[in-house]
Amino acid sequence: MKNQVKKIAVIFGTRPDTIKLAPIILELKKEKKFFKVVSIATAQHRQMLDQVLDVFKIYVDYDLDIMQPNQSLAVLTKNAVEKLDEVLQKEIPDLVLVQGDTTTTFVGSLTSFYRQIPVGHVEAGLRTNDKANPFPEEINRRLTSAISDLHFAPTDTAKKALLKESMPSEKIFVTGNSVIDALKISIQKNYEFSATVLNKIVSEKKKIVLLTMHRRENWGSPMIGACKAVKKLAEKYPKINFVFPVHLNPVVKEVVHNTLENIENVFLIAPLDYLDFVNLMSKSHLIITDSGGVQEEGPYFGIPILVLRKVTERPEAVKYGTVKLVGLNEKKIFQTADKLLRDKSAYNKMASAVNPYGDGLAAKRTVQIIKNHFGFSKAEVKEFVPKKRK
Ligand code: UD1
Ligand code: UDP
Repeated sequence: MKNQVKKIAVIFGTRPDTIKLAPIILELKKEKKFFKVVSIATAQHRQMLDQVLDVFKIYVDYDLDIMQPNQSLAVLTKNAVEKLDEVLQKEIPDLVLVQGDTTTTFVGSLTSFYRQIPVGHVEAGLRTNDKANPFPEEINRRLTSAISDLHFAPTDTAKKALLKESMPSEKIFVTGNSVIDALKISIQKNYEFSATVLNKIVSEKKKIVLLTMHRRENWGSPMIGACKAVKKLAEKYPKINFVFPVHLNPVVKEVVHNTLENIENVFLIAPLDYLDFVNLMSKSHLIITDSGGVQEEGPYFGIPILVLRKVTERPEAVKYGTVKLVGLNEKKIFQTADKLLRDKSAYNKMASAVNPYGDGLAAKRTVQIIKNHFGFSKAEVKEFVPKKRK
């Protein structure tokens, strides 16, 4: 019997889900004999999505263009439901792939469920078990798990969380996180930055502290406190450059600019394209962030990371020691960063290039599992196992 080509719809819409799905889209596209890929961008993000599409040269079949300035979660959800349903009704894919924990992820899985289309969830099983942290992502991720038919867990911890929720073990696969696949194809020796300000900063050969912040649960006083801690650090360490690509969310921009503008060694810049960002990360001394993806990328380089969250659904690097959860207390953020900037042995204790999140083969594993799922192959897929610290 001739193989029937299966239609795989990949749904994404924000910066992180697109970065992490890009290696999988590229890998699926190599398998023309088996798969037809339909790329659907909700465009929950606009400029920050376009930056990623440009870097990975992803051609989008549908661009739903739903982003509105300062969008509420409800309106965003409503628009995504309506527009995604129209596309799914037209395309009727054999499988939908979603990634992570954004509104696009949840709505992509929900609308597929309503059309009785099977769902594969990339980066499944991350949990804090606290519905307020991260908000609304913890719940988006759990609802997506409830709907999904194939669960691509990045780590063994994530697999265990899914098993605890009675997901069938034969449908859970430990692939590693495709964020590391994306990194491996993007890091370059002697990289030339496209943002000219970065070439200038890097050429100064000063230490760099890289900052990012955007989480909804941190809006308001927690974010103000974190920015004030950064201000104190920048004043204490005038010879260190603090580089802060500010998220385009107007709520975030306002807090960051109000607190950190006009400090000589603090560079508040627009979001960087992914290549600039990860290549800058590779040259950074310390990272302070509330991002999920950045928490996974930093350990690849062995750069200490202070995470501005109460809890994290990514406990692995905390266990390995490269990541410290500092929360949102101004004093604690300042004191922890201050110690790392002046105490070499405390710094070296955290700096270690062990990556618990992936080995660059997540996309290959994911695509092989999908081939097996459709009966195109029976090849054994070896689970991702992190290399232990020496
Ligand atoms: C979203 C995700 C979050 C993810 C983050 C990554 C949800 C609920 N939140 O948060 O999980 O960690 O993306 O960055 O899915 N904006 C622009 N241009 C852009 C992107 C955003 O102007 O390219 C502004 C718009 O005013 C938009 C606002 O940011 O309304 C918020 O965007 P939204 O996607 O709702 O939430 P994020 O906070 O970006
Ligand atoms: N990133 C980027 N440009 C930036 C900041 C971050 O390309 O200016 C990338 C980063 O490398 C990571 C991803 O964006 O892969 C993380 O996205 P974000 O922090 O917006 O979302 P989260 O991971 O917290 O959901």
